Order: sequence, then C-alpha cells, then structure tokens
Amino acid sequence: MSTPAIVVKNLVKTFGSRHRPIRAVDDLSFSVQRGSIFGLLGPNGAGKTTTLRIMTTLARPGGGTVEVLGYDVVKAPLEVRRRIGVVIQEQAADLLLNVRDNLLTFARFHGGAGPPVRNRAERVMTQFRIEDVADRKVQDLSGGIRRRVQVAKMFMIDVPIIFLDEFSSGMDAILKRSVMAMLRAEAAAGRTIVLTTQILSEAEELCDDILIINNGRRVARGSVQALKELVGRLHEVTITFDRIPQELATIVAGYGPERVVVQHNTVQLQLRDEEPRVLELVSALGRHGRIQRLEITGASLEDVFVQLTQQPEVPR
Ligand SMILES: Nc1ncnc2c1ncn2[C@@H]1O[C@H](COP(=O)(O)OP(=O)(O)OP(=O)(O)O)[C@@H](O)[C@H]1O
Ligand SMILES: [Mg+2]
Repeated sequence: MSTPAIVVKNLVKTFGSRHRPIRAVDDLSFSVQRGSIFGLLGPNGAGKTTTLRIMTTLARPGGGTVEVLGYDVVKAPLEVRRRIGVVIQEQAADLLLNVRDNLLTFARFHGGAGPPVRNRAERVMTQFRIEDVADRKVQDLSGGIRRRVQVAKMFMIDVPIIFLDEFSSGMDAILKRSVMAMLRAEAAAGRTIVLTTQILSEAEELCDDILIINNGRRVARGSVQALKELVGRLHEVTITFDRIPQELATIVAGYGPERVVVQHNTVQLQLRDEEPRVLELVSALGRHGRIQRLEITGASLEDVFVQLTQQPEVPR
C-alpha cells in the first residue's frame, strides 16, 4: 500500500484563556489514503474547520503533528501549500476581481498559463453555471455564487490534494449533484479530497472514509458501511397488507421491535437484529396475511451520527 496522503498525530488546538481553555481539537489522530474522498463530520463546533485550517497551514497546531505528502505543516508550510487547494468556510474569493479573472489568477498562481488555462476557465464556469456572471466583480455577487467561484477554482488546478470546508453551501440540488460527480471523477483520477460536511446524505454518497468528531475528539471512524454496523443492525421494515393479520401483535412481539406503528393497512417496524431474523419475521407475517408491498432499509448515516454525537447539553 502507498504511504498515506495525510498523517495527523495527537493533534491539539486550544483557544481561549489559560483559565478557561476551549479544546477545539483534542488529541486527534488519523490518516487519509491517497486517492480517497475523506469526510470529516461532526456537529457545529466539533472542530472540523479548525482541523482543516491546521492541515492546510492556515493555523498552527497547539500540539501534535500533521504531515501532508510527507511534509510537516509547521516545518515546511510552503511545500505543503504548493501541493494543496483549499476552500475554507469563512474565506471569500478575490472580491475586486471578476469571476473569470478569479479563476485565471488562481490557475496562474499555481503555474498554469496560455490558452489551455483560458479554455479550462470557460469549461469550469459552464460546469458551475457561473458563465453568465463571468465579467461581474465577485463583490457584487450573492454569497452562494461567491461560494461557487471558490469551489470552481479547485477545478482550475491539478494539485494532488483538495480541502473543502462545507463545499455545498450555497449550491442548489442540481449543481451539488454535478459537483459531487466531478469530485468523484477527480478522486478516481488519483486526487485526494478532504471535505467537511453536516449534510449526511452528502457524505454517505461521496466519502470512502469518514471520521466523526465531537468536542474535538474522535467519535467513530470507517467506511459508511462500517459506521452503520457500529450502531447495530437497525432495520426499518414497512409492510402493507390486504388486511392487517389478527396475529400481528403476537408475532411481532416475539422479535422485540424497537418501534411498531400501524396505520390503516400498513405496519412500520424498527428492528435491531440480523438480516435473516428480519426476513424470518416478514415471512412469518406473510403466512398470516397477504403482503401487497414490502420495504426494508438499513440504518442511514444520519441514524449513526445522531446516535454517536448525541450527548446531554453541558453548560459552558
Ligand atoms: N479563532 C477562534 N477563537 C476562539 N475559539 C475558536 C476559534 N476558532 C474556533 N473556535 C472554537 O473552537 C471550537 C471548534 O470550532 P470549529 O469552527 O472548528 O468547529 P466546526 O466543527 O467547524 O463547526 P461548524 O460546523 O459550525 O463549522 C468551537 O468551540 C469554536 O467556538
Ligand atoms: Mg466549520
């Protein structure tokens, strides 16, 4: 296996006074494989942006180390910067330049030149649906469009690693779909993508590898599939009968469901059990009533996330 693109060891970042420190990042260790789409997930204030800022040399670690493609972010920040593209939550595009010049300047800064860069800019502007505002100054555009310009810049350069903090904010569903497809293509071509998001369906669709953090600490780590297994084998079963079987309650009770809701001819069950047991229940019910419609779904990443990051409110 090749060496990881990013290695984070015992990372710590503290804000606030010595008397009331806030541990924004609290002893975090992880690595990111080359060519993967890595998702850093967590609720508001979990430490995602702070971690990303440190990995991209925009903030210094308070403790621990981060290596990007073998370069230490503190000892060799310029080597790191040369190899990465970053879209961070709060940063804006170059407000005084128009949209096209934002893309061109960024590409030239990274060594691009000549007609290929101009052609690429036109193509990227079409992909991001910002070609109509190509000649407008960024400062005159809405927040959502500015955001698109920021993300569009990443497709102007060929650096090996891209960092995206909440990339989809300000994008409508259709644009988001196409940007996700573009990101997947970039990863397939060997680029490493590190992103943060609060939109779990986005992570579920996009990420090969996920790290969930809360209060600056690791909560869970793995593929979407592995994380789902971590919260147990939760299944949602929805069955519509011709007529609800009389034996329903008795049969279902034998399987210890977490939740049962009956509405007209439809019953919704939540079971924490292995798949064969779920199928066994369905076939038992099928022997007592005619099933018109059946749907079985596993836990969503949202279930995982809520379960893992839910904590009683701690007054600060
Ligand atoms: N410059 C700063 N000064 C003081 N505290 C900060 C600073 N930056 C971040 N924090 C604190 O560090 C913690 C983590 O913040 P961070 O922005 O990394 O969270 P996040 O996971 O990106 O949240 P969000 O989902 O809201 O973007 C929060 O408690 C935040 O208030
Ligand atoms: Mg953030």
